[in-house]
Amino acid sequence: MVTLLSADPRPLREFFDEAGYTHEQFRRNPTLRDLPSRRLGNLPVLLDRTSKPTVLNTLVRWFFLGLPLESRSYDGLVPPAIVSFMLDCGLLVRDGDRLAPAVMLTPCDGFLFAADPASRLESPQASDMVLWPNPSTRLLQMFTIRRPAGTTLDLGAGCGIQGILAAAHSRQVVATDLNPRATSFAAFNAWLNGVRNIECLTGDTFEPVAGRAFDLITANPPFFVTPSSDQMYCENSMELDDYCRRLVGEAPRHLAENGYLQMTFEWVQVRGQAWQDRLAGWLENTGCDGWVLRSYARDAASYAEERIGRMMPWSQEAAATRFDEWMAYYRARHVEEVHGGILAMRRREGRNWVRIEEAVSLDLTEPFGDAVLELFASQDVLETDRTREQMLRWKPKLAPEVRLEQQLHVAGGQWVPEAAKLVRPTGLPASLALEPEVADFLKECDGSRALCELSQQLAGRVKVDLEQVEEQCCAVVRKLVERRLVLL
Ligand SMILES: C[S@@+](CC[C@H](N)C(=O)[O-])C[C@H]1O[C@@H](n2cnc3c(N)ncnc32)[C@H](O)[C@@H]1O
Repeated sequence: MVTLLSADPRPLREFFDEAGYTHEQFRRNPTLRDLPSRRLGNLPVLLDRTSKPTVLNTLVRWFFLGLPLESRSYDGLVPPAIVSFMLDCGLLVRDGDRLAPAVMLTPCDGFLFAADPASRLESPQASDMVLWPNPSTRLLQMFTIRRPAGTTLDLGAGCGIQGILAAAHSRQVVATDLNPRATSFAAFNAWLNGVRNIECLTGDTFEPVAGRAFDLITANPPFFVTPSSDQMYCENSMELDDYCRRLVGEAPRHLAENGYLQMTFEWVQVRGQAWQDRLAGWLENTGCDGWVLRSYARDAASYAEERIGRMMPWSQEAAATRFDEWMAYYRARHVEEVHGGILAMRRREGRNWVRIEEAVSLDLTEPFGDAVLELFASQDVLETDRTREQMLRWKPKLAPEVRLEQQLHVAGGQWVPEAAKLVRPTGLPASLALEPEVADFLKECDGSRALCELSQQLAGRVKVDLEQVEEQCCAVVRKLVERRLVLL
């Protein structure tokens, strides 16, 4: 197991950085895209691509491919002081006359995260595996609101990545996990990255923070909908999606006023219900406003096939048996589909609102926490301002990233507009088809003038009754605010 040392780990981080073992390298280097797997049969090509004796290839072979190396492979490339440091803190272990990696190391936005090596998934110890940063980690990372927070809780911390990233904008972070190996990794990674304002606690769900409230709670919980609970990093022992429902139910007690819970999760759609129904029930009477963005949906069979295929390198026979078990479990509970997405809840006194919608797409290259705050602020206004009089006081502003996409056709030797679409490509992507005349009106919406003034101008231009124009402008702007294309 990894060990925190009293020595400063900075020289080690700098060594990895200088060798090019960085986030940027992992993003663009094809060798670092897929882990070696029996299913992909890609080890030979990964070995070939890392055959040149360089510092980077040595580190990649140890800490990404998970291979033990003889001293002739690293002598002269990795200084003895760095090798000793890695042995002392448990990143490397002796394996006869070779040095073997005890962890996988993943660089992420200037930080380095140790987690279990991929080989553990195939071992009898897979159940308390601590997973490396993966796509759902990234989703939560991009989703997280990065405004200054007093206290932040990272629930189900795993290797500690969410808490460590939140430490930069929080006074104090608590990272909790049911798996004591995970809390050890989280504490180790905090030390490795020089992060001090983080406390790592072991225990079930909110138990380690009983009686405490936070400004921000991030959770990427074990949300897979499976009949088993063998893999702590992705499964739980509750029925279907009940563990995520439990988090939604218990989180409000641990949120300060205006504090947010943000989580990635999955839920089921059962026969006779729309996919939104179940969530609406979860979010009722929580004392929080709630927003859910669905980003994928699978029918039960496709879900089972995909998850079973990715969770472990099962033999074909074992995978088939699992598949049958999973399908029997879903059928008995009338599960037709499994849905996935993100949820944000904000604790707020007063009459709360709930909004459940579907993502146009999700852009994981840019953080979109600010867009989430913006959405909550807009929804607050939409909830309070419902009369025409109230809406006419709005000063609408087209979101700065919005672009107009037009389709034109030729008629009478001229390009004539046929259809138009407003598109917000980044942040929380959004789009809406609209009439060319509306697009024309929107270019006036720069946040400086009230909707009553804009309507008056338009009514004068198109020679239509003001009341009618006002009504239409309010309806259009309201819809565009709902779609995040116009800000208030
Ligand atoms: C999907 S991993 C997320 C790890 C990390 N936060 C990330 O974003 O990559 C889920 C984590 O929840 C932990 N976990 C599972 N059941 C839990 C429980 N009942 N209470 C607290 N943590 C739990 C697992 O051990 C695992 O580390």
